[in-house]
Amino acid sequence: MTKLSVIGAGNVGATCAQRLAEKNLGDVVLVDIIEGIPQGKALDIYQSAPVEGFNSKITGSNDFSEIKDSDIVVVTAGLARKPGMTREDLLKKNAAIITSVCENIKKYAPNSIVVLVTNPLDIMAQLALKVTGFDPKRVVGMAGMLDSARLSTFIMMETGCKPSEVKTMILGGHGDSMVAIVSQTTVKGKPISEVLPKDRIDAIVERAQKGGAEIVKHLKTGSAFYAPSSGAAYMVEQILKDKKETIPCSCYLTGQFGLNKVYVGVPCKLGKNGVEEIVEIELTADEKAALYKSASIVKKNFDLL
Ligand code: LAC
Repeated sequence: MTKLSVIGAGNVGATCAQRLAEKNLGDVVLVDIIEGIPQGKALDIYQSAPVEGFNSKITGSNDFSEIKDSDIVVVTAGLARKPGMTREDLLKKNAAIITSVCENIKKYAPNSIVVLVTNPLDIMAQLALKVTGFDPKRVVGMAGMLDSARLSTFIMMETGCKPSEVKTMILGGHGDSMVAIVSQTTVKGKPISEVLPKDRIDAIVERAQKGGAEIVKHLKTGSAFYAPSSGAAYMVEQILKDKKETIPCSCYLTGQFGLNKVYVGVPCKLGKNGVEEIVEIELTADEKAALYKSASIVKKNFDLL
C-alpha cells in the first residue's frame, strides 16, 4: 500500500490529508508536534470514510518515526501569515521548523519524495534540499498550482467560462514577484488578449498575485488552505500515477531558463521519480526578465538565512 505522510496538522495539512484520502491515493499519516491535534483530526477524517467511500487508512501522531518508509511526504508545518505580514516575514521561524522536519524525513523516510508547502515557499524548498541532501528531483515545492488556479478562477469569474476552458500558468517565486504567463493564457483556446481588454487582464493578474493576502485579510486569523491543499494533493497524484502533465511547480534549476542553483516556479512534469523534466517553454522578453528578477529575490532571501 502506498504510504503518504503529511507533516503539520493545521488547516493546510489536515485538508490535504482529507483530499489525499478522498482521492484514495494511499494510507495517510498526519504528524504534528501539538498533542492530540493530529490524532483527533485523523480520526475525524477517517470517520468520514464510510460516508465518502474511500479506502485510505488515516492515522495521526506526534511521533516522527510514524512516517517511516513513506513514499511521499507533504510538508505543511510552520506558521501562516497574519494580516499585514509578507511571506518573507515567516522566514526565520519557519526555517527552524523546516530544518527539524527535514532531518526527520532524512532519518525515517530517506527514499521519499518531498512536496514542500510551507512559506516562504521557494526558500523553504531550497532549505529542504539542503537539509535532506536528497536528489533535487525528490524535493519539489507547491505554489504555481495555487497561483495559477487563482488566476484561472478570476478569469472564470470575469468571462463566465468553465475551469476546463482556461489555460494559464504562473511561474517564478511564490511572492509578490510571481510571473503570470499572459502570453500563453487562453480562454476556450483563444488568447486572453482577444477575450478581455488589457486593463481587465492587468487587474485580474494583480488580484491573482495578491490572492494570498486577499484571503488573509478576510480570514484575519490565518491564511488560505482549501486551494493550497488542492494544489499539493494534485501534485501527489501526478507523482503516484506517473502522470507527467506539464504543471507549474517550484523546482531546483540547474541551468534551465538560464537560472542556476535556485528554486523557482517553472513548468515541469511530475512522475514516479519526482521532477521528471523541466519544460523550457518560450517566454516573452518581459516574462523572462520578470522570472530572473523573481529568482534573484529568492536567492537573496535564501542567502539571508
Ligand atoms: C497563499 C499563501 C498560503 O498564497 O502563501 O495563500
